[in-house]
Amino acid sequence: MSDQVLVADAGAVRTIRLNRPEKKNALTSPMYEVMTRALTEAAESDAIRAIVLAGAPGAFSAGADIGEFLESAQSGGLRPKTVAFLHALARNPKPLIAAVGGLAVGIGTTMLLHCDYVVAGSNATFATPFSRLGLIPEAGSSLLAPLRMGHARAFAMLAMGRPLSAAAAKEAGIVNEVVDPAEVDEVALKAAQDIAALPPGAIAVSRRLIRGDLDDVVARIDTEIELFRERLQSDEARAAFAAFLSRKK
Ligand code: COA
Repeated sequence: MSDQVLVADAGAVRTIRLNRPEKKNALTSPMYEVMTRALTEAAESDAIRAIVLAGAPGAFSAGADIGEFLESAQSGGLRPKTVAFLHALARNPKPLIAAVGGLAVGIGTTMLLHCDYVVAGSNATFATPFSRLGLIPEAGSSLLAPLRMGHARAFAMLAMGRPLSAAAAKEAGIVNEVVDPAEVDEVALKAAQDIAALPPGAIAVSRRLIRGDLDDVVARIDTEIELFRERLQSDEARAAFAAFLSRKK
């Protein structure tokens, strides 16, 4: 299973690559666990100065695994490994760069709000279909998205589930660069190397100032988690999960 997230260091840059392409990189508890460990280790390592989050060609991530959502609904809560990942992501002190080649759904989009530099392929789509699934925004996105893109765009994306193209995401301020899909990884790595080449102390303090109060972000994540737990067990959510899992293609 550990192959579903690949962690590799090259010089001062750590790459955490989602590698479950047959499921469009839908995220499971064991995957969250590997990602959390990779972030925590990097946080504690002086040798790592930047982290790239990457996916597979055509799919950054289809979001949380809906089969696991259904199991969580039955067992009464969001899995602890998901919660640990959200905290590690929000508290991570190292610059985060994302390489988004293709689909970014649910947490595949909301995790980008914790990133400092996002490179998207021109084929990328950013979608948060929470309401359609009977769910609500997570990963601190109910706080971070309005700050980043304003209420109007945040509502259309997070509450109405309207997807953003790569160009619209750049315009909205959640993507830095839109490039040819074949160049996403390379451009993201270059950005990470550029950051890693700068004095790490100055970068760390700049990042802290720019990101603002992380306690607020973590508090919002925890509030969302409580509400998400309730939503997971709602009839609306259970019906939506069952419909997805039994859909005919
Ligand atoms: N959870 C579980 N499995 C998922 C998944 C998810 N979030 N997203 C995709 N998959 C699976 C599909 O069930 C399919 O599995 P199968 O081949 O065993 O049937 C496989 O990944 C490929 O997906 P498919 O739907 O065939 O690809 P597509 O290109 O036609 O569509 C998506 C891709 C992402 C648009 C579509 O799969 C989708 O809507 N997924 C759900 C996204 C979502 O709602 N995430 C949660 C947000 S909170």
